[in-house]
Amino acid sequence: MESAPADGWLVRDAIPEIDAEACLDIYAPFIRDTCVSFEEIVPTVEQFRDRMRATIATHPWLVLVVDGRIVGYAYGSQHRSRASYRWAADVTVYVDPAHRGVGAGRRLYSALLERLRRQGYQVACGGITLPNEASVGLHRAMGFEPVGIYRRIGWKLGAWRDVMWMQLELAPATDAAPPEPRGPSD
Ligand SMILES: CC(C)(COP(=O)(O)OP(=O)(O)OC[C@H]1O[C@@H](n2cnc3c(N)ncnc32)[C@H](O)[C@@H]1OP(=O)(O)O)[C@@H](O)C(=O)NCCC(=O)NCCS
Repeated sequence: MESAPADGWLVRDAIPEIDAEACLDIYAPFIRDTCVSFEEIVPTVEQFRDRMRATIATHPWLVLVVDGRIVGYAYGSQHRSRASYRWAADVTVYVDPAHRGVGAGRRLYSALLERLRRQGYQVACGGITLPNEASVGLHRAMGFEPVGIYRRIGWKLGAWRDVMWMQLELAPATDAAPPEPRGPSD
């Protein structure tokens, strides 16, 4: 368990066997109808569950439960596969439309970033298809800074799309060699 605040909101580790369907229900419209995700075909629940299982082997995947229902989720993932990138994690968050603007994204990201910090990741990176005022606002509110924009980097829904990258230092910057990132349960 991550936290169980008095307001009845609970942030906890995702359990793929139980939570895959609810997470996919939140995510699927972003595949079908928006450029927030560059994925084009909605995965099956089983495929999505496998994705969650693969993610939690190395990174946190958290869900926010309100009144017994999952209303959002956030997870970390490898930024790039080459070895020297291993201290950098990408972060992703989705909140159900009915629960936006009331602190759900902040709650999920606060817990996620703390978990990434504890595992020894040094940098969190967010890639945001533009425009996305809410996501840029959330990342800024969490201390992320813009680092650049990939222009016309993806084609979706009939147009070229730009992606802005933002990053957050999870640990104080030093020139000392960083300790290896730990697994979620180490
Ligand atoms: C982006 C998203 C996760 C934000 O979640 P949320 O629960 O609505 O955000 P919160 O209410 O926790 O707000 C957190 C901060 O984000 C900022 N923010 C949220 N919505 C915003 C908006 N529409 N415009 C500008 N800033 C906004 C606020 O400044 C807020 O700062 P504060 O906590 O200091 O007040 C949510 O809008 C969402 O799920 N969007 C669709 C999926 C998506 O775009 N995911 C990100 C992929 S890169």
